[in-house]
Amino acid sequence: MDGKIWNKIIWILKREEFLGNDKINFSKVRENLKRCSRIDITNSKKKDREDFKTMEDIRKAIINCKKCPLYLSRTNPVVGEGPLTPNILFIGEAPGADEDISGRPFVGRSGRKLREILNSIGITDDMFYITNILKCRPPNNRDPNSKEIDACVPYLDFQIKKLNPDVICTLGTFASQFILKTNERIGILRGKVHHKNNRTIIATYHPSFILRNQSMGSVLKNDLLLCLNEVKKL
Ligand code: URA
Ligand code: SF4
Repeated sequence: MDGKIWNKIIWILKREEFLGNDKINFSKVRENLKRCSRIDITNSKKKDREDFKTMEDIRKAIINCKKCPLYLSRTNPVVGEGPLTPNILFIGEAPGADEDISGRPFVGRSGRKLREILNSIGITDDMFYITNILKCRPPNNRDPNSKEIDACVPYLDFQIKKLNPDVICTLGTFASQFILKTNERIGILRGKVHHKNNRTIIATYHPSFILRNQSMGSVLKNDLLLCLNEVKKL
């Protein structure tokens, strides 16, 4: 087999290991291989694939990252915020305008909405870490493209492995479909507990959707209560 293909297989297996999956699912490897056949891993520099040791290593790497063109348009990368042993890890899509300016996750209108609901149900700041799939803002909040995602996702993989949360809560369609590896609609994915790669995952609406559809606030709240329930079970 072509050496490049072997490198890709090894890369995918390492990624599975990052995600805490110790059983190899070959049909998934094949599926992932097809999906990332366009990535020339052999051309990526060793530095781009290094195994980070601490959250501080990852912060430094993100702050200095130039792995995709978004570094040219960002004001600040947004690493994520929260305790190092969180109960819940919230994952959004990418920083918006307020986050790009401040370098902090979910500090704009939708972030304030999310934090308001979290506070109302007793999920306190010391219980969650919050980050995004992409660490830099795509211009005009356009959807992230696959090259940007492929370049950035090793950071999230490491954050998941290192923070080892009890529950991962994905916010919105993009993050939910990406983490659960499905094209299913968010209305179907939300409201239930998924188990994937030995992780407990709960998908819910993005708070920006709630700002546009006020009546759905109680649905987001119920999903967040489900997260809390899963944490308490442990
Ligand atoms: N929306 C996101 O998905 N992430 C942020 O950090 C802010 C808004
Ligand atoms: Fe690096 Fe991710 Fe920012 Fe691209 S989006 S420059 S990969 S940190």
